[in-house]
Amino acid sequence: MRIDKFLADNSIGTRREIKALIRAGRITAGEDVVSDPGMHIDPEKDIISYDGNVISYEKNHYFMLNKPSGVVSSTKEGASRTVVELLSGEGVKGLSPVGRLDKDTEGLLLLTDDGALLHDLISPSKHVEKEYLVITESPVGEDDMERLREGVDIGDDKPTLPAKAFMEGDGLHLVICEGRFHQVKRMLEAVGNRVVYLKRLRMGGLKLDEQLEKGGYRKLSPEEISLLQKGGKH
Ligand code: URA
Repeated sequence: MRIDKFLADNSIGTRREIKALIRAGRITAGEDVVSDPGMHIDPEKDIISYDGNVISYEKNHYFMLNKPSGVVSSTKEGASRTVVELLSGEGVKGLSPVGRLDKDTEGLLLLTDDGALLHDLISPSKHVEKEYLVITESPVGEDDMERLREGVDIGDDKPTLPAKAFMEGDGLHLVICEGRFHQVKRMLEAVGNRVVYLKRLRMGGLKLDEQLEKGGYRKLSPEEISLLQKGGKH
C-alpha cells in the first residue's frame, strides 16, 4: 500500500496535507524519514510514525451514530442528508449503515466498512436482536403486548417472529430479531395502534451510548466490536 493512502485511511489529513507532512520530514517508516508519498509499505508490518507517534493501522472502521430524525440511512445522495454525510469529517471511504432506520427514526445506527460483520449483523438467519423504544398514539395494553410477543400478521407471507415486548421508562420496548421494512410501525398497526416516535436502543450486545447527542457519533471500542462479532454469530 502507498504510504500516502495509509496516512489518509488513518485520518492523518487530506492527500495534500499528507504531502506537506512528508515534505517536512514528519513521517517515518521504522528509523527512516519518508520522503516519497508513493513509497510502498506493508501496513501490518511496518511501523509508521507521525511526529514520533506510532500510527496504529485500522483495517476497518466502526462507528456508532445517534441518528437524528430527518436524515436518511441510504448511502445515495438525494435531496435529504444521509447518515454517511454526518460522518464525512472522518474521511473514511466505503462506510455503510448496518441496516436501515426510517427517516423519522432516531437512535443507534452502526456504520462500518467491514463487509463481513455488516453481512452477519443484517443476515436474516442470524436473528440479531434490535431493541426499540416505541411511543404510540394510544396506550398499549397487556393483550396487545401478548400479540406482539407471539407474532402478528403485517401483510407479508408470514407473521412476524416472536418478539419481546415490555413497558419500561418512557414507553413500550419492543425487541425484534428480523429487519422487515417498517417492521415496528407495521406491528403496531397490526394491533390497531400507531407509532408516533421510534428510537433504536440496542443492536445485538451493543447499546446506544446515551452520552451521544442527536447526530453525534463515536468510534466503537475494541470490546464493543468484539461484542458485535459475537452477537452476529448465533
Ligand atoms: N421499524 C420501523 O418501522 N422503522 C424503523 O426505522 C426501524 C424499525
